[in-house]
Amino acid sequence: MNWTLETIPDDHPTPSVIISESIAEKNIRSMQAYCDQHRLKLRPHTKTHKSIWMAERQMRAGACGLTVAKAGEAEVMSSVCDDILIAYPAMGASRIARVTELAKRVRVSVGIDSRDAAEHLQNAAAAKGICLGILVDVEVGFHRTGVASCESAIRLCEYLSNQKNLYLRGLMCFPGHILPGAPDERWLEYEQALGAILDGLKAKGISVETVSGGSTPTARESHRNRYLNEIRPGTYVYNDVNEVRLGVCDWDDCAARVLVTVVSMPESNKIVVDGGSKTLSSDRNAANPDAGFGFVVGYPSAKITRLSEEHGEIHIPDIDLEAKALPKIGDRLWIIPNHICVCINLQNQFYLQDSENRLVEMPVNARGLLV
Ligand SMILES: Cc1ncc(COP(=O)(O)O)c(C=O)c1O
Repeated sequence: MNWTLETIPDDHPTPSVIISESIAEKNIRSMQAYCDQHRLKLRPHTKTHKSIWMAERQMRAGACGLTVAKAGEAEVMSSVCDDILIAYPAMGASRIARVTELAKRVRVSVGIDSRDAAEHLQNAAAAKGICLGILVDVEVGFHRTGVASCESAIRLCEYLSNQKNLYLRGLMCFPGHILPGAPDERWLEYEQALGAILDGLKAKGISVETVSGGSTPTARESHRNRYLNEIRPGTYVYNDVNEVRLGVCDWDDCAARVLVTVVSMPESNKIVVDGGSKTLSSDRNAANPDAGFGFVVGYPSAKITRLSEEHGEIHIPDIDLEAKALPKIGDRLWIIPNHICVCINLQNQFYLQDSENRLVEMPVNARGLLV
């Protein structure tokens, strides 16, 4: 893939997201190879691409199934996968109705962290005469959802293993607090948290088939936690500024860029492009919140200082202009977003650029599906 602007037709619409097929494919294959090498199942989180086409690529590369957050995403992804994990407490009558309906057709598992949630799902599953898989979401240090204590997690597993219409598949967790360079103790605590629960379950004669963890920053180090047998990274498929700045990947691993056009130059050293918060999202950089709203390719010191809905204001310092001229009105630029998952959810479509630089328009199938 050559990110040159020359091959993009003059009349290609902007702002638009362009995905390099070869970089996305490389990311899919290398994550799968890591998992195969360490005998880990890979269940990619599809919240990043929300695309049936990309999900199919991940399945064909060897994924054991797919992860989603929402019922609507699960419905969309069921067209290419019959083993879906909703790694989110799927509560609320309307959501539960959709999840149990889908479970008539494909294997659906849900991550939950409470007895209340278990009761809601058991009742709904019984009413439909189906069986739902359950992963108990356990807290390992990120402090979002997840059963907080080992004893409570064991109690919930015990309760679940006695439910007629729920099948306890195992445990899930999200190690979002572990970033590159994290001290070894953090990995140790992560491992011990899972080990203690699994030991407790074993003592009660409860066996589980799945221990699912992983995020993009921890994915390729998952072998450091011996209890994991499945991981669910999502962002790795495209990557973004957050992942680069955290040291998880390089710029060359970023498969997604936003093509924008310069529409105004109100002051010296300042340009305005046609990608604002409705294109890039307002997400700040995770590692450095003051670093601007994305990376302007070719102008490494430039800063996207402010976003309105349809305007992106960029300051380009003199140091960048020694190597490259200031863009002119009508010129196009590449921006790599801070957080690609949110950016993709703002697009109706993306353009897949193949090895011969052809652009193929593709739908973002699960875009905006929040239920
Ligand atoms: C429950 C869960 N699993 C997996 C992931 C994927 O992690 P990442 O975005 O780092 O790839 C997320 C991300 O938010 C998540 O919330």
